[in-house]
Amino acid sequence: MAEHKKPVIIYGGSFDPPHRGHLELAAAALRQLRPAALYFVPGFLTPFKDFAPAPYAGRRAMLRAALAAAGLGGRAEVKISPFEAARRRVVYTWETVAHFRRRHPGAPLYFLMGSDCLAGFGRWRRPDFILAHARLLVGLRPGHALGRGEYPFTPLAGRFPEADSTAIREQLFLGRRPARLYPVVNDLIGKKGFYLGRERALLKKTLTPARYAHSLHTAALAAALAPAAGAQRQKAALAALLHDCARDLAPAALRRLCLPLARRDAALRETLKEAPVLAHAWAGALRARTLFGVTDPEVLEAIKLHATGAPGMGPLARLVYLCDLANQGRAFGEAGLVRRLAFIDFEAAFRAANYVKLVYAFAGGGWVHPLSVQLWNSLQEKKSG
Ligand SMILES: [Fe+2]
Ligand SMILES: [Fe+2]
Repeated sequence: MAEHKKPVIIYGGSFDPPHRGHLELAAAALRQLRPAALYFVPGFLTPFKDFAPAPYAGRRAMLRAALAAAGLGGRAEVKISPFEAARRRVVYTWETVAHFRRRHPGAPLYFLMGSDCLAGFGRWRRPDFILAHARLLVGLRPGHALGRGEYPFTPLAGRFPEADSTAIREQLFLGRRPARLYPVVNDLIGKKGFYLGRERALLKKTLTPARYAHSLHTAALAAALAPAAGAQRQKAALAALLHDCARDLAPAALRRLCLPLARRDAALRETLKEAPVLAHAWAGALRARTLFGVTDPEVLEAIKLHATGAPGMGPLARLVYLCDLANQGRAFGEAGLVRRLAFIDFEAAFRAANYVKLVYAFAGGGWVHPLSVQLWNSLQEKKSG
């Protein structure tokens, strides 16, 4: 008889990475419903949505570590299901519900979520199908009250931590250890080099400590400003981290790297002649590709143009150009002004960054890079046009 069967709980999500908010919700669901099974179902994450999510095997390993840390490891009813990830495409929740319905005929099915997800439920594919086969099991998260709402649900007793994975990932990109992750998960991330850890470790070896610190400052500002600049956070952090990856090369090594590139690049030939130190931007883009395995053209463009700028540069390149000048580690007063302005009006701050760089260049009395001047002129045309 169906009503005598124990419930089955489905917990879908990206778990990129799994944090206390996930595990506390799951623990409460286990206490309240005493289910026959609780399935974590990590989704398939498309690289285009979030640039480079942690791979499924990595998310599964982090989930296992988090389960053990939360005291849920080794419990037979707690499982990690490859159902969605194995399909190598976006799987809709109704499909997942249908799968577990077939697997557990007659058992009461529950779909676990935080109250932050409930408001969007009506926009999911086939909400009526989901509700015909499963009950929503909802835990209260801060800022998302459990109103009566349009759809029926079972409330979970208790209050649960916030679940902002974007903010957690932003900290991870910069090498921090977010408190909302269990220490074993932070350790695992460090060991595996997820969330740009591999890139940071390699970068640290190629730069002086001061330059590495400058790169982290630049990446912190780039990640924070990414939405204002119309760029993706992870791309912003990566491009900003690597922008000076060729800056500490000896002049002869820098020249050696650049000469083959200069055959096809008049601007680089001129740079090598007039201001060879600026060629580190071109060499940086090359090294990002060959040493760090970066293939994303926007990231490579941002590195190549960070020192001079250029007319028509894309949003990510503008962001890195600005952050290189205006990050927390810069001591001159204009840096703070440009930084504060960038959070209010990014385009105005970008023009200001170009202005500040030109003023310093003119004040130095030497050669001024034509690309920087062309950038200035293109921005004036844009303003008046
Ligand atoms: Fe640089
Ligand atoms: Fe820099």
